[in-house]
Amino acid sequence: MTRQDRTPELQAFLDAALAAFDAHATSDEARAALGRIRAGLDTPAPLREVTPGRQPTCRWLEPALDHAAEAPGLRPMLDAFRALEPGLEWSCDKPDNPTASENFSESHAEVMIVGPGGMEPRQDVWLGLSLLAPGVRYPDHSHRPEEVYLVLSEGDFRQGEDPWFTPGPGGSFYNRPSILHAMRSGKDPLFAFWALWNEPAAA
Ligand SMILES: [Fe+2]
Repeated sequence: MTRQDRTPELQAFLDAALAAFDAHATSDEARAALGRIRAGLDTPAPLREVTPGRQPTCRWLEPALDHAAEAPGLRPMLDAFRALEPGLEWSCDKPDNPTASENFSESHAEVMIVGPGGMEPRQDVWLGLSLLAPGVRYPDHSHRPEEVYLVLSEGDFRQGEDPWFTPGPGGSFYNRPSILHAMRSGKDPLFAFWALWNEPAAA
C-alpha cells in the first residue's frame, strides 16, 4: 500500500489535518503523539466501503464549519474536510452512561475517519471528529490510546476531576492514556477533531 492507494480527498484531508494539529499543539506530549500518528499514517491501510450519511445533529455542521473558518490557520483543514464529508458515514451511539445529558443520543454525531470502523480501518491511528448540538454533555469516558484534541468551536472540556476548561476555536490539548475525560456544549454547537495513537502491544 502507498499513499496513492488512498482517495485524493482522504489523503488531502489527512495532510491538512496533520498540519493543523501540529500547528496548534501546545505541549511536548502532544507533539510527540502527533509524531507517532504521522509516522503511522505514512503506511495506509486498505480502505473499507462505507455507507455515507449524516445524522440529525449534522444540521449544525454548516454553521460550525463557517464559525471554525474564522479562527486562524484552520481553513485548509476545513476545506479538505468539506471535500471529504459527502463520503463519510456519521454515527450516533447511545451510551448507557449517567454522566451523559438526557438529550445526548439525538444531539450528537461523530465520524471515525481513520481507525476502527472508519473508511480506513486500522488499530494504530484513530482520527475523527465529534459534533454536539447546543446544550449537550458528552459522557465521561476513557480509552487506552493517547489523544490530541483540536477544538474548532466554543465548548468546555474536562480531564479527570479537574475544572472544566474552554480551549476555543483552534485550541488544543492532550489526553494521556486512560485519563477520564468529557466535553459539553453551551449555547453553541461543539465541534472538535481528535487524533489518537494506540501503541501496538509488544510482540
Ligand atoms: Fe476520547
